[in-house]
Amino acid sequence: MPAAFHTFPCLSDNIGVLIHDPATGATASVDVPEAEAVERALRETGWSLTHIIVTHRHADHVQGIPALKQKTGARLVAPKKAAKHVPGADELVAEGDQVKVGGLSASVLDTPGHCADHISYWFQADNALFAGDTIFTLGCGRVSEATPAVLWASLQRIAALPDQTLIWSGHEYTLSNAKFALSVDGGNAPVYQWLVNGLPAGEDSAGLTLVPAADLVVRCVMTSDAVCVQNPVVSSNTLTLPAVPVPVQSVGIDASATTICSDSLVLFDADPVNGGTSPAFQWMVNGVDVAQGATYRTAGLSDGDVVVAVDGEAASSPAVLNAIIGRHRVGDVVRLEVRQKGVVQSAVSIGLRGLPNYRLEAFESVGLPITYPIRAFRGRWLSSQIAQ
Ligand SMILES: [Fe+2]
Repeated sequence: MPAAFHTFPCLSDNIGVLIHDPATGATASVDVPEAEAVERALRETGWSLTHIIVTHRHADHVQGIPALKQKTGARLVAPKKAAKHVPGADELVAEGDQVKVGGLSASVLDTPGHCADHISYWFQADNALFAGDTIFTLGCGRVSEATPAVLWASLQRIAALPDQTLIWSGHEYTLSNAKFALSVDGGNAPVYQWLVNGLPAGEDSAGLTLVPAADLVVRCVMTSDAVCVQNPVVSSNTLTLPAVPVPVQSVGIDASATTICSDSLVLFDADPVNGGTSPAFQWMVNGVDVAQGATYRTAGLSDGDVVVAVDGEAASSPAVLNAIIGRHRVGDVVRLEVRQKGVVQSAVSIGLRGLPNYRLEAFESVGLPITYPIRAFRGRWLSSQIAQ
């Protein structure tokens, strides 16, 4: 048998509600803003109070409990986190607990944000949520003891409940919430003007993307097109964005050789710093785009050729390449010394040093001497030789 509900006003703007199980006669009051109002509702319905279930500790939700509990002996169920503030609780509950009201059953949802101890009661079988001061018609609860993100997470949790869920809030704020909504309503096509350090920086309603290279003071001015709006041009709050060091990209390159013969194969490796997960590389020889990739292999270099790699992205044209060089730090520059094959002669000469045993030394035509300790045949002279 489905639950029955009775809603009634309490205090100046609180909403009182009774949940009744026709099968067992059990009846719960969600919070007790004032005992008299709940007693009046019980008389009107003819129900007998058996339970009080508390959403949070604020006085306008619990101050009527002692008197009502004394008169009815109702079982008091309260948030575990509010135990110190709701004396006399018969049952302390938290996230995941099940609360029984006769044959009715509610899941306890932790919904902090309005205050740290706030919980909501979800009677899933009856599609009913008692959300206290977490959510109201056209609004939400005031944030305390938490950040807006905490309350937002609670609201998201409520939003994820089935569409047919009926929500009872702790206050009737619809009119004041509607007035507030209209005061900030931008109509159907508001115009946004972003200002950075007081200067126009874009009119994109979707947002503004900034590179925080320096301290930035940002705000947005909205011009509403809503009919009869009180203030058609309004300014947002101001955000000050501190400068954030931007990682500098760089790339070094290694060459398998820097002094080569004219037809020698040279392998270049790119070594990026802050290149991200998959940097691209553009190789250039004498400023001309020649190849892409993490390595560059070539046998066609000439004396004095300058090889560089640019990280970050590939260049599809000289103009794009120049733009890349403008944005990124160009890596190491390798200047090649390429010798023509056959122009440089290799040679060796030998000379006599010491007696009685002959010690001969060999000298390359270029570079450091190479010593060959040769024991010459006694009594014979060895003449100098040139060998290629
Ligand atoms: Fe509250």
